[in-house]
Amino acid sequence: MTVMAKEREQWTGRVGFIFAAAGSAVGLGNIWRFPTAVGQNGGGAFVLTYLVIIFLIGIPVMIAELVVGRRTQRNVIGAFKVLVPGSVWVVIGVLGVAAGFIILSFYSVIAGWSVAYIFKFVAGHFYNISPGLVAREFEAMTSAPLQPLFWHGLFMAATIGVVLLGVARGIERWSKVLMPALVVLLVILAGRAITLEGAAEGIYWLLRPDFARLDLAIILGALGQVFFSLSLGMGAMLTYGSYLSRKEDIPGSAVYIALTDLAIAMLAALIIIPAVFAFGFDPQIGPPLIFITLPAVFSFMPLGWFFGILFFVLLSIAALTSAISLLEVVVAWFIDELGWRRPTASILAGLGIFLLGIPSSLSMGLWADVQVFGLTFLGLFDTMTTNFILPLGGLLLVLFVGWRWGTAKALGEIRQEGVAFTLGSVWAVLVRFVLPLALAYILVSSVIAAFTP
Ligand code: TRP
Repeated sequence: MTVMAKEREQWTGRVGFIFAAAGSAVGLGNIWRFPTAVGQNGGGAFVLTYLVIIFLIGIPVMIAELVVGRRTQRNVIGAFKVLVPGSVWVVIGVLGVAAGFIILSFYSVIAGWSVAYIFKFVAGHFYNISPGLVAREFEAMTSAPLQPLFWHGLFMAATIGVVLLGVARGIERWSKVLMPALVVLLVILAGRAITLEGAAEGIYWLLRPDFARLDLAIILGALGQVFFSLSLGMGAMLTYGSYLSRKEDIPGSAVYIALTDLAIAMLAALIIIPAVFAFGFDPQIGPPLIFITLPAVFSFMPLGWFFGILFFVLLSIAALTSAISLLEVVVAWFIDELGWRRPTASILAGLGIFLLGIPSSLSMGLWADVQVFGLTFLGLFDTMTTNFILPLGGLLLVLFVGWRWGTAKALGEIRQEGVAFTLGSVWAVLVRFVLPLALAYILVSSVIAAFTP
């Protein structure tokens, strides 16, 4: 029996694929992590760096991942075994599965907070509440030992449930409804936030780059954020590409996905940052930022409780469609390579991830003082994967596509059935020369900086 003989699910078509891949990309990365990173990295300079990196690095890497996935029709580890049997390149896949495990462990903790907020809005906890009281409510919730664990567990259970039922149809259907609804709601909220008194200062802070602030830390932060937000560097896009049919336009899809993701992140920042300034919060506070800013915005709106419920429902579903893609990478590997059945693989992997999330969950309360490299567990898991493992995965992938497999073969795979890729030679130069140098430079100098006091 050949490995390729296995029947594989496919997306229902181009639009279905784009929605599903955008569903993986759009999530907490856009609405929670992007505004948080903007806040911690000084506003406009970070936003501009982020934009440049999306086009120069994000889209080319996404094309590379999709192409390897579609060519091999395999999971992230199997793909390299098919293209270069017996070589060390499978390490890309191993890193990817490990990254998926770790990222989902803390991702699910944050998503749990979002689910908890749905119930808090329903129960009226945030009804006409002052900004200061929202912060206290958040602290009370996250510093309790068991309550956040419960929400984390609930979110993981939902993720396991969807992955257990199989990929294509479920993910597509969710994403097609969710994404447009989310965009409409974000536009309404941005309208409210930027007209708050004192919001203008936040808008300037967000959109006016202060080049004096531009340094290696900002570049590394923006690079990591691009990988995280576009679901790159660990094989999620590779796995989604493996369900893609031969006649789809990969570069065109990559551009759509990246622009959708960017638009949603910018909208989220346009809500959070002006509101932070209007309410006099500190933009640098980190992970809690959106959870204390948003309820305050809602309390300044007519029907705020209703918008609050709607928002956190949509955010939780957006997080779910992303979490699915993280778990799917791990599960696809168990199924394809170890021969496990889908239900066993989903449940056992999900359970392991739940357990690994416990330290992150406790890091806002009981274990807040346990720090490694000056970071809590949540911060450590996040920084380690987002800023280092994902860009490293991206670096290895472009080296693989550029030098081992070859951009000529990759371009041949892209240009089937009359798909035009006018910028193909530009892409090839980026993948072979520019990206390896840029990624290696940023990674190596950041590691050196981290270890020199
Ligand atoms: N991109 C998702 C978000 O922004 C998170 C995510 C899903 C992810 N799959 C990934 C991040 C793979 C890194 C790698 O919320």
